[in-house]
Amino acid sequence: MNAHIVVVAGDGIGPEVTHEAVRSLEAIATRFQHTFVFEHHLIGGAAIDATGSALPNETLQAALKADAVLLGAVGGPQWDNPQALIRPEDGLLGIRKALQLYANLRPVRVYTQLAEASPLKQHILAGVDFIVVRELTGGLYFGQPKERRIRSDGGITAIDTLEYHDYEIDRILQLAFELAASPSRRGMLASVDKANVLETSRLWRERAQSLAQHYPSVTLQHILVDTAAMRLVMSPSQFDVIVTENTFGDILTDEAAVLTGSMGLLPSASLGQIRNSKGFPLGLYEPIHGSAPDIAGKGIANPIGTILSAALLLRYSLGLEHEAQTLEHAVEHALANGARTVDISAAHALSTSQMTEEILNAL
Ligand code: IPM
Ligand code: MG
Repeated sequence: MNAHIVVVAGDGIGPEVTHEAVRSLEAIATRFQHTFVFEHHLIGGAAIDATGSALPNETLQAALKADAVLLGAVGGPQWDNPQALIRPEDGLLGIRKALQLYANLRPVRVYTQLAEASPLKQHILAGVDFIVVRELTGGLYFGQPKERRIRSDGGITAIDTLEYHDYEIDRILQLAFELAASPSRRGMLASVDKANVLETSRLWRERAQSLAQHYPSVTLQHILVDTAAMRLVMSPSQFDVIVTENTFGDILTDEAAVLTGSMGLLPSASLGQIRNSKGFPLGLYEPIHGSAPDIAGKGIANPIGTILSAALLLRYSLGLEHEAQTLEHAVEHALANGARTVDISAAHALSTSQMTEEILNAL
């Protein structure tokens, strides 16, 4: 297969970890006789510094033409001024919106070899294997108005708008129901909302309830978001597929990430309706960890979250399931062989590129 992949490395550790993911994809291409062409573009703070825009048009046009987009991370202290008119995060939100990536899939698996790196007790971690489906292009992140107003008394009022349309709710719920019904999952769907308080959540719950009749093999459960936050640490193995709106999904996936022992391990895939030249969804693939400016440039970042994101890219945007599994198994082997970066073990930690070598050796 010939595939065209746009790489937007972004800021902080973004360039370091995407470099390793590209190496992994090149190794897969060699092994399975594919040709992957990589094209690098700017996003986030790096793009602001170079062009004044967090998402230059050139980047967006390239992404729209690609088969898939691999992203590192955006943001950093130098662009954090609350008064700033343009922020690195605008680049990320902008590309998600422009590519209509309404579904963000964040799989959470605990590797038994790493259980001791988790802040939770081992018996709680047994059998943890779930996936969070986060709505990504609606809700508080995008609702209008989103502004500040000066009141007549001279004070300031800030406004964000939480708005969800029925069709936005339906398409993300449908995707989650289909995933829960698929052979790779266990047929359980937890829909997380705040229906005791929010009108958007009441509509969400209603739509989930009515869609459920089309998926008789799926057991649907509604969970309030505060309860869900608690259950994620009390009994995370009860979850199979979790579906939730944008902001709740943002918060719960950071919580879920630490179950595995390190944020550095978790990948994500953002998918939507646009099809690529292969007829698969044009997706955006990124680790969930962020730009980690404190360790940027030191060569110690964990590349696994991005390498596993590359595996999701192979699976969802290129339809290369076997290749995806091969890369995922190589990560497991490297971990089983004791390969560790500093976030999961301070002793005998490998550098970012050494960790990748361990993974590629296990291919
Ligand atoms: C994430 C990140 C982003 C989000 C930030 C960087 C805007 O936290 O992907 O979870 O909130 O969506
Ligand atoms: Mg987040």
